[in-house]
Parts: sequence; structure tokens; C-alpha cells
Amino acid sequence: MKPIVFTGRSLPDLGARLAKVLHIEPGRRLIEDFADGEIRVEVKERLEGRTVCLLQSTGAPADRNLLELLLLADACRRRGARHIIAIIPYFGYARQDRRVKGEEPVGARLVTDLLACRCDRIVAFDLHTAAIEGFASIPLLHLSAVPLLAEAFREHRRPDHVLVAPDAGAVKLAQRYGERLQLPVAYVEKMRTSDREVAVQAVTGKVRDCCPVLVDDMISTGGTMVAAARALLEAGARPEISILVSHCLLVGEATSRLEKLPLRRLVTTDSIAGVHTNKLPLSTFTLAQLLADTLLELTPSMMG
Ligand code: R5P
Repeated sequence: MKPIVFTGRSLPDLGARLAKVLHIEPGRRLIEDFADGEIRVEVKERLEGRTVCLLQSTGAPADRNLLELLLLADACRRRGARHIIAIIPYFGYARQDRRVKGEEPVGARLVTDLLACRCDRIVAFDLHTAAIEGFASIPLLHLSAVPLLAEAFREHRRPDHVLVAPDAGAVKLAQRYGERLQLPVAYVEKMRTSDREVAVQAVTGKVRDCCPVLVDDMISTGGTMVAAARALLEAGARPEISILVSHCLLVGEATSRLEKLPLRRLVTTDSIAGVHTNKLPLSTFTLAQLLADTLLELTPSMMG
């Protein structure tokens, strides 16, 4: 029997694009809020013995999006779904991947445990740390938007570009972009002073007279990118900055912060919906084809 895809409320556009690429009708479901704020889910399809794919990013509001996904999974399971794949293009709580002071939860582990209660497999893109794949108790397929974004940037590539990791965690990512785009890599040493502010301690690599291309898994408040960009400009980089990020959350004042940078382009994916701003030179590339290819591999009978 053919697999079926349901989309949560976090990703209406990507859900529609995915259905179009796969030539399928999205699964019929009702999702709304009760008067008291609880989420109400009804799955309108018969699912006995079927493979079900649930598409939902767990960005802000992370808790509601996660719970909505779990409720959808529960409803599908109770309608007889045999195999449930949670497709989570942006996986929230991924930054809580370890205990720094020994006082915190490991939020990423908890989220994978919760998903494992109702789902059989997770598909995610550019997790904040690949270690999450190791501690998930169900199979987690870790995909990457790097090839997509590198190709999108290729036509703008110039010999004076330098790829820059805005913190130590992004160095490997910058190297991956560097290999694809045949560009040198530099990096910025960052120290986080709060969840909104960061301080830069050093810039390593040649950036003077170069145009920086900052790469990271995500932009949240923009603090990391803004601090890195300022440090690069102080180090003599040219005021023509590009940014490549898989997940563009643009939380709080991120847009107004980034607006003040000499930003040439901000290239990202549609892992987060509703990032529409004409204040930034934003180019968004869809994950739909990549996801469709993956689903066809996982569930060959998917094609409509
Ligand atoms: C952290 O290590 C991540 O890779 C990002 O650099 C960070 O989460 C971005 O957050 P913000 O935009 O709030 O600085």
C-alpha cells in the first residue's frame, strides 16, 4: 500500500512542494487549537498497515510544534499506521546536546526519546551536532543541505571569497563548503556571553581584502553572525558579506541586526516557514526534491 504524507502546521509551503514533487495528495488531517490552547488533531485517512511520513519542523514555538508532531504520530498509530517516519527539517532542542555545567537536561536526547515513543524513524537536516544521531534510540537519517546551498552559491563564487566558520562548531561545515566550492576557509573564535550575545576572541586565516562567506547550521538571534561579521571587517575583510545557513530562524531582533551588515546575500532553505523579509537579500531554496528523493529510497512505493 502507498505511503502517505501528513504536514504539520509549521511547514505548509514545504509540505505542498513535497507533495507536488512526489505527485501525491497530502494526507487529510485537521489541526487546530482548542479554546484553552491545547492542540486538537484529527487524522482523516485510513492507515491500517501503511507507512506514514509526518513533516514538521520543531522551531519556534518549539514545544507546540513538537507536541503537534507527537499528537499527529499518536493519531496515525491509533488509525493503524505500521511505520511512522518523522521528517523534521529543522530539529529544535538540538543545541541542548550536552551538559555544560552539569546542571542542565540533555534536551536533544529527551526529544529523540519522545519521538521514539510513537515514531519508527527520524529524518533531519543539518543537525546542530551529528552526535544526536548516535544517541537517538530509533534510526535517525541525518541529511544535509550543504550540496544544495553550495550549488546555489556557485554562480556567485569569486576568487577573493573566503568561507568563514563563525565559531568552532562550524569549522567542519566550512570545510565541506570549501571542498565543494574550492575556496579557502577561515574561522572565528567565539565566546557566548548570553543566549543573544557573543564575543569574538580571534580570527584565524586570511581574510584581509577578501569577501567573507559565513556558513553555519542556523541563524537564530543573529548574534553569532553579527559578531563574526564585525570581527572580519575589523580584520580587513571587504564589506561584501554573504551568508549560507541551512536554517534561518530569524528570532527576535535578528532581521534588524543583520540589516546593519554590508550583506550581499543570505542563502538558506525552507526548513523554517514564513521567513519573508524584503529587508534582507534572502534567497530561499527548497528541500522538497532532496526530501522526495530520500522518501523514495526509504519507501519505494511512494510515487503517485
Ligand atoms: C551555535 O553553535 C550554532 O551553530 C549557531 O552559531 C547559533 O546557534 C546561532 O545562534 P544566534 O544566531 O542566536 O547567535
